[in-house]
Amino acid sequence: MLPIFAHYNRRTIFMKNFIINTIIISLILIAFSLQAQVKDSNEKKKISLGKLIFEDVELSEPRGQSCASCHNAEQAHADENNIVSQGANSKLFGNRNAPSIIYAKFTVPWHFNAEDETWMGGFFLDGRARTLIEQAKGPFLNPLEMGNSAVEQVVTKVKIAPYKVLFEQVFGLTIWNNNTLAFDSIADALVSYQHSELFAERFTSKYDAYLQGKVTLSVQEKRGLTIFEAEDKGNCAACHPNQLNDDGSFPQFTDFSYDNLGVPKQVNLPFYSMPRHYNALGKQYVDIGLAGNPNINNAKNQLGKFKVPTLRNITKTAPYMHNGVFKTLREAVDFYNTRDVDKKWGKSEVLDNMNKEELGDLRLSDKEIDDLLSFLNTLSDGYLL
Ligand code: HEC
Ligand code: HEC
Repeated sequence: MLPIFAHYNRRTIFMKNFIINTIIISLILIAFSLQAQVKDSNEKKKISLGKLIFEDVELSEPRGQSCASCHNAEQAHADENNIVSQGANSKLFGNRNAPSIIYAKFTVPWHFNAEDETWMGGFFLDGRARTLIEQAKGPFLNPLEMGNSAVEQVVTKVKIAPYKVLFEQVFGLTIWNNNTLAFDSIADALVSYQHSELFAERFTSKYDAYLQGKVTLSVQEKRGLTIFEAEDKGNCAACHPNQLNDDGSFPQFTDFSYDNLGVPKQVNLPFYSMPRHYNALGKQYVDIGLAGNPNINNAKNQLGKFKVPTLRNITKTAPYMHNGVFKTLREAVDFYNTRDVDKKWGKSEVLDNMNKEELGDLRLSDKEIDDLLSFLNTLSDGYLL
């Protein structure tokens, strides 16, 4: 039998242990919460830093161009009215129209969908960058865009930027010891910014409010929506899905697949007259799209295909298609409607793999096109309830 004091003693020991354990657990919890706070504030700093880098016109060669020059916040982070954007060197032009990148962060990872036999996702219109980090490093070194000749050149500019200290706070003082790491960190900050709310307020269109039951569409917008979805009318939703996803998330208006719509040549593409080492083919140059992606093997089957873009904020991103060949949204819709029956479109630039099943002769009346355009107008963010 245990003496009473021994029993007491055990209880005391138990209480002592209990108190010590409680203190330890509390300390661990406080440490975790402090760590979370530090992480949180570090992420906030990284986002602010990303914005400063995104808008810094000192980071091009010659100076004068930033990411924001071609992805303007006022224009859904696209470059409205320019077929292709001018490079930092004002005599140089790339080959493609700058897309809106507000929703780029939702792009699905680059992969092959065996069921539908199509490549999916990835960044750029041909998916050649597998991640947003990889993408972000491209423009700095692209001679037709920001024009730096090497990673060191970009890093050196960040090292003397007004936000140098912020950069060191986020990535550490030793970051300058390794140019590759420093360049990766620049891309990292740019991605954090593009992921953040600060970059853009997303899913604030009239259509999003409609999906949440907060607003009704006008009679004309509703007719447009029906045309957008109907397989025997616009059939747009086949590639630009517009319904809430199974998990309740908002639609992206792209299925991230690749297609050749048979878009005509853009005769005014400044790229045709670029120096020979950028474009050896001159006017004969053809943008083969996905077939030029170095990560694919069946290139012939991919000639002329481009990633399906989102239609969110579509009214703010004219001109349209990868080569900006259509000046207005009406012209783009008219093309879907009459590609195969109206000679005015001329020859498609790439005839291989052209989609002949889902577009080309939709037989929409002018009034139905008006309705469709009225629906597309509901996809612009910033709708005030
Ligand atoms: C000179 C104009 C120009 C500049 C400067 C520029 N971009 Fe772009 N951006 C484009 C064009 C054009 C494309 C499409 C290019 C392609 O598909 O080959 C593009 C594509 C993108 C994409 C991919 C979108 C998608 O849906 O796949 C992202 C993201 C992006 N840019 C971010 C940036 C960032 C970040 C910077 C700054 C480091 C930047 N851009 C600088 C013109 C520009
Ligand atoms: C078979 C798939 C498919 C269908 C169906 C389809 N689209 Fe597209 N859409 C695409 C692809 C792919 C592109 C990019 C083509 C390019 O740049 O060459 C595109 C581009 C666009 C663009 C230009 C976007 C930009 O930022 O330049 C608009 C506008 C558009 N589609 C609207 C529509 C409408 C409206 C319909 C229905 C009438 C429709 N699409 C049906 C695949 C499709």
